Amino acid sequence: MLFGRVKPLDAILATAEKKSLHRSLGAFQLTMLGIGAVIGTGIFVLTAEAAQKAGPGMMLSFVIAGVVCAVAALCYAEMAAMVPVSGSAYTYSYAVMGELLAWMVGWALILEYAVAAGAVSVGWSGYVVGLLENVLHIDIPDLLVRGPYDGGVINLPAMMIAGLVTWLLVIGTRESASVNAVLVVIKVTALTLFIALAVPVMKMENFEPFAPLGFAGIGAAAASIFFAYVGFDAVSTAAEETKNPQRNMPIGLIGSLAVCTIFYLLVAAGVIGSVGAQPILGANGEGLAPGSVALAQQCGAMGDQAVVCSKEALAWTLREIGWPQIGNLIGLAAGLALPSVILMMMFGQTRIFFVMSRDGLLPEAFSKIHPKYNTPHVITMITGVAVALFAAFFPVGKLADISNSGTLFAFAAVSFAVLVLRRKDPDRRRPFRTPLIWLTAPISILGCAYLFYNLSWETIRLFLIWAAIGLVVYFTYSRSRSHVGRGSVELHEQDADVPPSSVPPIS
Ligand code: ALA
Repeated sequence: MLFGRVKPLDAILATAEKKSLHRSLGAFQLTMLGIGAVIGTGIFVLTAEAAQKAGPGMMLSFVIAGVVCAVAALCYAEMAAMVPVSGSAYTYSYAVMGELLAWMVGWALILEYAVAAGAVSVGWSGYVVGLLENVLHIDIPDLLVRGPYDGGVINLPAMMIAGLVTWLLVIGTRESASVNAVLVVIKVTALTLFIALAVPVMKMENFEPFAPLGFAGIGAAAASIFFAYVGFDAVSTAAEETKNPQRNMPIGLIGSLAVCTIFYLLVAAGVIGSVGAQPILGANGEGLAPGSVALAQQCGAMGDQAVVCSKEALAWTLREIGWPQIGNLIGLAAGLALPSVILMMMFGQTRIFFVMSRDGLLPEAFSKIHPKYNTPHVITMITGVAVALFAAFFPVGKLADISNSGTLFAFAAVSFAVLVLRRKDPDRRRPFRTPLIWLTAPISILGCAYLFYNLSWETIRLFLIWAAIGLVVYFTYSRSRSHVGRGSVELHEQDADVPPSSVPPIS
């Protein structure tokens, strides 16, 4: 039977119960965890791409993407509180909807995490190159700091940072709560400084026309800027370590999303109002696609004198309005803080691969543990090579969109799984219950579908090709090797210790 292979929820839960973690997290720590994982390339870099797609209307795009994330986050929270073990959306799906869908979700999560790590690496590169050029006056040729779609050949700094993070993960580096707190303070201070300098010089005429490319542009920008909110699942996966999860989990999830949304809206308003954010149009009045050769050429011809051309939108804006040193400081903040987002994403990826390999769906060799460092080094290095290649050759916006396609699929699957489980197993203990589930979950599924539909056709096609490859791998390799399929459901004591997705350890 195609959908019959379900990993029993009780077996998964028994694993977690063997070693329950100390409940130490309150609402504030959870909110910090969320902000640490969420603020990154999305706001620092993709603001320029959102402006190219929607113009000032990108303010609305930020709201739409934030609302979809909020409802998905509420569904995540119920699952995470109930099934607080490794594997995040993949594990939830395995328990509720069976192996095939779980496989597809896990396969999509590869897009979410690995490709997102590539996107953040490219974002980091943009800021660090800008910093080198503006502070140290080192002019690095575009050919070496941009991928082929972006008017260059290879993005060496992006490749380097991906390699460095891979090495850190191989030797077992994990971010502690205190490092996370410092990085949150750096990011929030940088954004606050930006808002304090840009908002007071806003000109209302810069908001006109508000939607130069219509509602289609606003939808397309929402689908891209969704990336700016990804990462909050770090909060939901800390469910097992949360005091009074029924109260604190929604505060942590919604709180971190609300804080990020407010910052994002103010930053977007600052960019639009201070330097203007109208898209660059092609010969027929169409908006040129961000990350395309055509846009790179137009930008080159006008000396990159528009925020939509910038690879470091916030630093560029501050330099434009007469604050070059603060602009450089923002660049420094991004340079310091973005690697931790890459680390969280790659960490999440290796743990998902690890669980899939231990379930027999991917080669067992993937889950080999390094004798000295005690890390899944094989899979970490494979992930690292893939991330470095994505980062070297693709533009940030394309990578973010591809990552979004996988994330949206996983979010929709989790929202669906919550509904199915309410029906199939209504009496199971739920430390957190999604409020108004019969409204929240369908809105989440429809919202994800709406954003997915608004991704470019190129992205959707790539997702479909990726899914088709996934099905081929499943039916030719994984299905016959699955441990559940062979009738052996293993319990792994260490599961409760391995942070399920992108959760940094709490110290
Ligand atoms: N939300 C994260 C970022 O914007 C992935 O970098």
